Parts: sequence; C-alpha cells; structure tokens
Amino acid sequence: MKDTTNTTDTSTLQGLPLLDHPGLNKDTAFTQEERAKHGLIGLLPDAVEDLDRQFQRAMRQLAQKPSPIEEYIFLNGLYEYNETLFFKVVMSDPKRFLPIVYDPTVAEACTKFGHIYRRAQGMYLSIKHKGKVKEVLKNWPIKDVRFICASSGGRILGLGDIGTNGMGIPIGKLQLYTACAGVPPDGLLPLLIDIGTTNQPLRDDPLYLGLRQPPPSSDELDNFVDEFMDAVQEVFPGCCVHFEDWKGTDALRLLARYTTKYLCYNDDIQGTASVVIAGLVTALQIKGGKLKDQKILFFGAGSAGIGIGNMIVTAMTLEGLSKEDAQKQVSMFDVDGLLEPSRKDLNEWQKPYAHPHAPTKDLHEAVASLKPNILIGVSTVGGTFTQAVVEEMSKNNERPIIFALSNPTEKAECTAQQAYEWSDGKALFAAGVQFPEVNVHGKNFEPGQANNFYVFPAVAMAVYLTRPKRITDEMFIAAAHALAEQVSSVEREKGLLFPPQRDVFTVEVATAMKVARIIFEQKLATVEEPADLVAWTEAQVYKPAYKPIGHEALNQTR
Ligand code: NAI
Repeated sequence: MKDTTNTTDTSTLQGLPLLDHPGLNKDTAFTQEERAKHGLIGLLPDAVEDLDRQFQRAMRQLAQKPSPIEEYIFLNGLYEYNETLFFKVVMSDPKRFLPIVYDPTVAEACTKFGHIYRRAQGMYLSIKHKGKVKEVLKNWPIKDVRFICASSGGRILGLGDIGTNGMGIPIGKLQLYTACAGVPPDGLLPLLIDIGTTNQPLRDDPLYLGLRQPPPSSDELDNFVDEFMDAVQEVFPGCCVHFEDWKGTDALRLLARYTTKYLCYNDDIQGTASVVIAGLVTALQIKGGKLKDQKILFFGAGSAGIGIGNMIVTAMTLEGLSKEDAQKQVSMFDVDGLLEPSRKDLNEWQKPYAHPHAPTKDLHEAVASLKPNILIGVSTVGGTFTQAVVEEMSKNNERPIIFALSNPTEKAECTAQQAYEWSDGKALFAAGVQFPEVNVHGKNFEPGQANNFYVFPAVAMAVYLTRPKRITDEMFIAAAHALAEQVSSVEREKGLLFPPQRDVFTVEVATAMKVARIIFEQKLATVEEPADLVAWTEAQVYKPAYKPIGHEALNQTR
C-alpha cells in the first residue's frame, strides 16, 4: 500500500488525498452520498459507475496498448491509483496478466527501471543508512506491515546484478501474493536494499537511481542485514521477511543465518524447490515410484540447484531415508564438471553432493554413467540438454523426468519440443518458462511451467492466516504436495505437471489451507486454530470489491 498522507485515520480523508489513496480510491464508483460526505463534489465527472463498468473501460484501454511493457506501465499506473480496479483486472485472467505484472515483462521493466520511473513505490534502504535502519523503517506510513519482500537486486531473473533497477521484482512479487492467493494488499511492503552494484554500465547510466559503488564485503553486508532483521521486528512486530533475488551465495548464507531466528524465507531457494518437488510428485504419480528411490542429477549447482537439492533431501528424509543416504541419491554438475571429492573449488553447500566418481566435464558421459531417473537443468545455459543427453535419459528410463528450468527462454537447457521429440514422447517435462503446446507423433503435449508463483503466494497466505513463529521446509513440502494433488487426470494425460494457470487462485487458496494445517500441527502458529478452517480462510481472503471508507479491515496509517 502506497499511502502518501500523514493522517492518523483514513476514515477522515477528504477530497484529493482520498482520490490519491490507492487502497481507498473508488474514483467514479464513489456514490453521490460519499462524494458529498468526503468533499469530492466537482472532483469527479458526474457519472456514478460500478467496478464492472470501470473494469470494462480498463480492459478497452489495455487493448490499445501496443506491447507488453506498455501494458505493464498502464497496469502499474492503475495499481498506484486504484488498487481494487488493478486487482479486479489482474485476477480476471491470471494466465494473461501474470506474465505482464511479473515474469517475463517485469524483466524488461527492470532493465529500463531508471528510464520509465515515475514516482517511488515501496521503500529504499541504502547501506548508507547503517546505524539508522529503525528510523528509516519508521518512515513507512503503515503500522501493521505483515510482509516485506526485500531484494538487493543482486541476481534478478536472467539479468544478473542490476542493483536498484531490481525494485520491480519485490513490487511484482507482492502483487502476486494478492492476485494468486488473496493476501490482503494493505500490509505488504516492497523494499530494495541498495548495497551498490557490480554492474558498471548501470553505474555509468546518468538515469540510474541507486548507489554508484560496488557492493560491500560479505561481513559488512551481513552486519547491515542483521541490523535490518532486528529493526523489522521492532518496527513491525510479527512481520515476515521474504528474501528475493539476492546474489546466490548471499541468498544461501543469509537464509541459513536467519531461518531459525526470524520469520523469513527465500523464494528463490525454498519457493523454487517447492514448485520443483510439486512437479516431481506429479511426475512420479504418473510413472510410479517414490522420491526416495530416484537418482537425481542437477545440471547447475548454484543457489537454485543447491536449494532444490537440499529440499529434495528433506523430502526424502520425510519418506524414511537418513540425510546422508538421501544426499547420496543427488549428484550435481556445474560449469567445471561433475561435483566429486577431487574437486578443490567446491563450497560448503556443494560438498555434500560430491560423491566418488571419476572427474568428467561431459554431461552425456555423466548421464550414461550415473543413470539418473531425473535430470534438472538450473545452469543458465541454453541448449545443453542435447539430443544425445535426452536419448541417454530415455534409454535408461521408461519415463525420464527432465526439467529444463533455466530462463529466460533462450537459456532453457532444452525446449519442450526437443524433450518430447528426442524421448519419443516419453519425457515427463517441465520448464522454467511457458513453452507452447507441442505435437509429437500426433499426440498433443502441454508443457508445465515450474513457476514459483504457484507456491510463494500460497505459503504467504498460510503465514498471513496463522502468524507462525518460523517458516520451515516442511511447509514448502506440504505446499508441493497440495499443488500436485490438484493436477487432474486429464491434465496429467496431456503431460501437464502443474495445475492450469487459469485456476491459480482457487488452487493457491486450497494450498494455503493445507500449509496452514501443517503450521497448526507443528505448533508454530500464534493464533488459535479455528474450528472451521475453510470458512475462516475464506473470510480473510482478499476479493477485489469496494469497501466503505474507513472500513476496519484497512490498515491505519501512522
Ligand atoms: P547461479 O548462477 O547461482 O548458478 C548457476 C549454476 O550453473 C552454477 O553452479 C554454474 O557453475 C552452473 N553452470 C554455469 N554454466 C554452466 C555450464 N556451461 N555447464 C554446467 N553448469 C554450468 O544461478 P541460479 O540462481 O542457481 O539459477 C540458475 C537458473 O535457474 C537461472 O537461469 C534461473 O533463471 C533458473 N531458475 C528457475 C526457476 C524456476 O523455474 N522456477 C527458479 C530459480 C532459478
């Protein structure tokens, strides 16, 4: 919520400040009585419309936009002006609008951030504010902040380190909390932690809006983030910090540092792992077999690979394996070849996956020798799952599971067409991007997209409902199973490993309820368990509809 006023009670807002309040503004839907009461007479055209009529107008205006980025700019303007109408539009057709408010269009918006910037949204916490973080956070006008999505811009989508330009990501991620799972938008705060950037062309761009300096050392960064995490709990007690798009090593280190101390999670690590496990659960239901019995090879051992690998290990332990035995089922391959004990360059997260094997830099050779059942690409390098690799997977498996998760599209390790064609239609395939439907030997396949947006909004809704003390991997594994359960047999037949995107809202609300149950079971909730979880959840789910001004559900400003 982007309140620009300093009033203490939104119910007293009058005139233009009321029209400037995106959470309260109804624009032409203010009734004549409301206009008279709130000093709006003459500030609006005479017609009194309802949300549906405003929606029709917005859709017509969108239809005039010549490109996705122009649609993004239009929708962002709507979000700034009239939140209810924005969510009405986005939630009307998730399959159409999620790629606009989020990936892939948001990537273009981020690259141009300093150029298309109009006004500030959310907060910018600069490393120059060290020692004063609490004071800075107190400048946010909302008291009851329930989630902060915090990014350093250090590794945005496939764009690398783009510093302050990354602000589009926390904004978009939090919009998805509401659009995909009904988390009320008024307690959501996007925040860019500006630690400088390694990106020299950006630092040289006169329109760049962030600090023009290199990022600090890890120690300096950790001290600053320590101060931030403490300050968040003081200023916004019970607030959950969602880490998003930090440089890989920073992401893993900071999650390990805070996960048992604060209410926080990292979507790139835990959300990604959860959605991948959901795809694996569905694939295993199709082909038969348990996760603990699968041999898995990761192509790419960065933050995504390690994050997914670690959660798969936890999921295998929940099926009865010891942690050590579970780790033995998982092998990894990076830019320097297979991870094995003679490698001297491995970091502490990679070492558990370095199993005795002759050194090799040839993926085909590694697949032929290890005979994995599951191959997961998180390498950032397109075209690396060659025909020989896919054929080798198909030789060793009746139904090879092949996930090519790197994005954007040109970085996918193979395309859907290639995976189905080279495996003779046998592959159980998912990608990080949405590939179009594929026809192989007369059969249609609908490739699934392992998109985090299936998971993190649902987990956030469960956290919103239950206010837990901590977030655990078990919650993300529960979300994965809940997601997999919602893929119908007809969808599985077409090769779809995730529920259809058009159903994302109902799917995620159902997933949030399953996660909430786990939170109650784990005794991590700080609210009382309701007798009727479904009715309790539905009563709290956000719906895009106008409320009376000063409605108690709306956060009060400071
Ligand atoms: P990262 O940069 O931390 O790790 C990349 C890994 O790939 C490193 O281990 C690197 O050594 C390895 N690699 C690079 N070139 C290679 C080559 N030629 N051969 C073999 N290995 C190579 O990146 P991160 O964060 O782990 O992300 C990796 C990819 O996964 C990105 O493209 C990202 O977009 C994608 N991703 C997809 C998600 C999804 O589909 N839901 C979620 C998160 C990430």
